[in-house]
Order: sequence, then C-alpha cells, then structure tokens
Amino acid sequence: MTTRVPLTRRYLMCPPKYFAVDYAINPWMDPSKPVDVRRALGQWTALRDIYRELGHTVEEIEPQPGLPDMVFAANSGTVIDGRVLGARFRATQRVPEAEHYRRWFVEHGYRDVLMPSRINEAEGDFAWTGRILLAGTGFRTDPEAHGEAQELLGVPVLSLRLVDPRYYHLDTALFVLSEATDVSPAHIAYYPEAFSQGSQRVLARMFPDAVRATAADAGCFGLNGVSDGRNVVLPLEATALARRLAACGYEPVLTDIAELRKAGGGPKCCTLEIRK
Ligand code: ARG
Repeated sequence: MTTRVPLTRRYLMCPPKYFAVDYAINPWMDPSKPVDVRRALGQWTALRDIYRELGHTVEEIEPQPGLPDMVFAANSGTVIDGRVLGARFRATQRVPEAEHYRRWFVEHGYRDVLMPSRINEAEGDFAWTGRILLAGTGFRTDPEAHGEAQELLGVPVLSLRLVDPRYYHLDTALFVLSEATDVSPAHIAYYPEAFSQGSQRVLARMFPDAVRATAADAGCFGLNGVSDGRNVVLPLEATALARRLAACGYEPVLTDIAELRKAGGGPKCCTLEIRK
C-alpha cells in the first residue's frame, strides 16, 4: 500500500459567531429550520482543533455581524505561492465578505492581493492539484473567472462544469487527496454525477486513479474533505468513503459538522488554505 505523506498546512478560518440560515442560496438552506449557533461554534472549534493537533497552523479572521456565511472561509480566497486572488460573490448577501478577507491578507503582509472582476467564489470552486487549478462553474463562479484566475495567479486552469444544484460548488463534489509531486501524480476523489458528461470524461482522462465517490458519499458532504496528503478530515457520516480512503493508505478523521451543513457547508468550506 502507498505510504501517504502529510504536509504541514496553513489555514485561515472564521468562527461562526454570527452563523444563521436567514436566506436560501443553495438547496441545503432552509430558513424555516432552526440553527443552533452554540452547536455550530462547538463543531467549528473541534474542526480547528483537529487541524492544530495534526500540526497545522490555523489563523483566525474576526467574524462580522450580519454575515452569517462568513464562516465559509474557503469562498474568500485562492492562495498559491503567496499570491492571493480574492472573491467576488454571486449572492448579494455575501458580497461584503470579500472585503473583510482582502483586508486580512493585506494586514498580514501579503503584497500580491488581487481582486477578480468576474464572479469568483474562490476555493469553493477552485482546487489546487499541485500542478493545475481545477475550476468549477455552472452555479456560482463565472466561466470567465477561470481565465482571469489563470492570468492573475499564473497557474494553468482547467474548467469543469457542475450540473447538480446540490453540488453547487466544486468543493462539494471533488477534493484533492494528495498533490502532485515530481514522482507521483495528484490523487483526487470526486462524485462523477455532479459533473457534465464532457467534464466527467475530462476527469476520467486526467485522473484515472481517482476515488470515484457514490451518491451516498456526496450526499453527506463527504467530498467536502480536507486532506494534508495523509490525514483526511471528513464529515462524521462519510464512513463508507472513509473506509475506501483508508484502503488507499489515508488516515480518515471524522468530525461532526451537521449544524454547518444546514447552510450547505462542510469541513472544506470552513477552511481556506494559505499556500505560503
Ligand atoms: N451558504 C453558503 C453559500 O451558499 C455555503 C458556502 C459553502 N462553502 C463552500 N466552499 N462550498 O454560499
């Protein structure tokens, strides 16, 4: 079995102090159902502490009143080689989040902080394989944002089309298990049915060894995982996917994110990776 090697990561997260489901911008959100902010905070804190116990660095940004989705840090930046590409949200309710994150990066010494002119929900729709940036479109990020990201970040971008509204962001349908190195290609997991026919063929061609997830894996947000190359943080319910990943040499770490899933989010949505 392949030995999986973890790489120490740096993450940016936002405590869900003002978490709520007051509006519905994806099929998971039902404003008529109650949410428990204390529970959300507890689940978020457990996730943060898992990262720290795994040896990763977690930075925290100050949550802002009136921005209940600000906990989903992944949507606010794509950072590769220290270059930061901020966000431009589709839903008016989330538009102000982008500026808070932009300011955080500037205040923390990042010099190359660029903002997109197209709708761009950052790591919600962008996944870095170590060589190329996989980019989702169909529900949130504009297809034109893909070319813009390629130009501003200086990395090759591969467009993929999402077709199932439950999997409205790329990070709900695909994640990178281990990045490409000089000796091994990137290893990913994805739910094929979330993608258009053409994109399914592209994925099969590019990633013949990928873990193809089932509808059940996807339905509990199992594809919203966070891997450091060895340890893979997954929602508690993703037991079948966890078993398959363990058989590939990974170390699954299951955690309860049920409260945050009421907004259509999981572990990855709460986690923006700062790559240098
Ligand atoms: N309620 C948020 C939205 O619809 C959830 C975002 C989840 N984030 C993610 N990276 N998928 O925008």
